[in-house]
Amino acid sequence: MATKPPFQTLADFDVNGKRVLVRVDFNVPLKNGRVTDTQRIARVLPTIRALSERNAKVILLSHLGRPKGKATADLSLRAVVEPLEAMLKPKSVAFAEDCIGEKAARVVATLKPGDIALLENLRFHLGEEKNDAAFASALAALGDLYVNDAFACSHRAHASVAGLAKKLPAAAGPLLEHELSTLEAMLGTPARPIVAIIGGAKISTKLDILHHLAARMDALAIGGAMANTFLLAQGLEIGKSLAEPEMVQTAKAILAQAKENGCGVLLPKDVVVASELKEGIATEIKRVSAVPKSGMILDVGPETVALLSENLQASQTLVWNGPLGAFETPPFDAGTVAVAKIAAERTRDGKLISVGGGGDTIAALHRAGIADDFSYLSTAGGAFLDWLGGKALPGVTALG
Ligand code: 3PG
Repeated sequence: MATKPPFQTLADFDVNGKRVLVRVDFNVPLKNGRVTDTQRIARVLPTIRALSERNAKVILLSHLGRPKGKATADLSLRAVVEPLEAMLKPKSVAFAEDCIGEKAARVVATLKPGDIALLENLRFHLGEEKNDAAFASALAALGDLYVNDAFACSHRAHASVAGLAKKLPAAAGPLLEHELSTLEAMLGTPARPIVAIIGGAKISTKLDILHHLAARMDALAIGGAMANTFLLAQGLEIGKSLAEPEMVQTAKAILAQAKENGCGVLLPKDVVVASELKEGIATEIKRVSAVPKSGMILDVGPETVALLSENLQASQTLVWNGPLGAFETPPFDAGTVAVAKIAAERTRDGKLISVGGGGDTIAALHRAGIADDFSYLSTAGGAFLDWLGGKALPGVTALG
């Protein structure tokens, strides 16, 4: 018998003619004012369509970037209107230049059942990140019902994620429900051995999760600039590479913890080195013990790819967050792409459950052309890691 989730869902509400405030995550990458990756928008479209078809007045709330309480033109959610309308055709999307107050109320008042509006960036107001009660009330005044369909923001105890859920009847959206149930099904009691690949720039932003994984994984592969700090911790020269020298003791503690728990740590054995991070620049493969003082580590080398491949052949579950190199600048995407292809192949062969999360990770998997071959890709980065680390997610707790 299926257990009822600890929150109400959209199936529990009659939304006909109601103003439904839907928290979505439209925190999408922008370049020159245009959205460069529409994955997050695409994933929540079924929710928006379903609500519109059920004759709700759909009011979309989101943040974009970190404007810290200031209205910032280049972080306006207006940039999302065009791609959103293109995907919702023939439906149009009304845009309100503020997310509270008169400007928002005026747009909401024009909505007919089935219509859709997007409100301006929530983080243009300081009250959002402070989970300010007055700000949450101002948002609540615009709706009859609240839906959280932003799993990717549910680790933030912000007004539109946590506070608002207590001001209106609240439901979990279908995408949030799907994210939680799929992650639970694949990673709740994972098939073992399980390996985590964690990349990205900084240990400091992923400290909790590294400790958690070192205690629970069978293997932990570390890549990206984060790996450089671990190389430093082993007394190796890393030249001009990005690292956090102040985290060396922490890196040592994580290595010791992994050893104590029987979790193998896979660090780069060889690396791709260049004089600077620049597209198409001359590169050299160096063993980690032979990185020159003038060099910058920008990707993992072929021997490291082989090591990860060997581990993936022996694993039944993979969790991946963060690229292995400076993947946005070719050729430093090669290591990430090579390992992603191996994981995809084993997944296609039914031998591996592969779960990825995080904007960079998903962009890298798309670049490798194998995103569809992974068992599951979460829209979330930080929330995915917090979920993985067993932390309560304020956005989910608030729905209970
Ligand atoms: C994300 O991109 O992970 C979410 O949108 C949360 O964004 P934030 O880290 O700026 O809170």
